[in-house]
Amino acid sequence: MKETITALISEEEIKKRISKLADEIEKSFNYEPLTVICVLKGGVVLAIDLIRHMKKSVELDFVELSSYGDSMESVGKVTVKKDISVPIKGKNVLIVEDIIDSGRTMDFLVNRLKREMPKSVKICTLLNKEQQRKFDIKADFIGFDIPDKFVVGYGLDYAQKYRNLPYIGTLSIEK
Ligand code: IMP
Ligand code: MG
Repeated sequence: MKETITALISEEEIKKRISKLADEIEKSFNYEPLTVICVLKGGVVLAIDLIRHMKKSVELDFVELSSYGDSMESVGKVTVKKDISVPIKGKNVLIVEDIIDSGRTMDFLVNRLKREMPKSVKICTLLNKEQQRKFDIKADFIGFDIPDKFVVGYGLDYAQKYRNLPYIGTLSIEK
């Protein structure tokens, strides 16, 4: 099987967009203290670039959920592999995710975090595949809207590969 990656969003475009996003986010929280919850593993590249553009100090935490396995298709159930490790009651929370597709993962996570009674919960996703939405989820901050194609790079993987690509590309597999 031959895997081919075609560039979709360049490293330069991503850099520019992230610095703008960081400003937008801080402004929208009125520069109040912020707890950034990064969704492992895909959200990690965005999260570390994003927080380095933030002027106010932020608290950083991680969750790991699973819904995809190693395939290109989403499976029905979301499970928690790693939960948050800081209390978020009364705090401003920003979820940082690589991509929202059906919205299943985000719907699950938002509901779960809201049970901890944070002051607010907002969502930042690098990529948004609106056409695929099956759950009523809207990200507050979106890096790029993309068409319904499978993409890799900048944190996003296919079977754990390609997360380290500095750009985003579409993946096609020839059998
Ligand atoms: P959702 O629950 O259907 O919204 O899927 C979200 C999760 O599926 C993301 O956190 C990604 O890990 C994964 N995912 C969805 N689309 C892609 C893609 O095009 N490339 C890589 N991972 C993807
Ligand atoms: Mg993910």
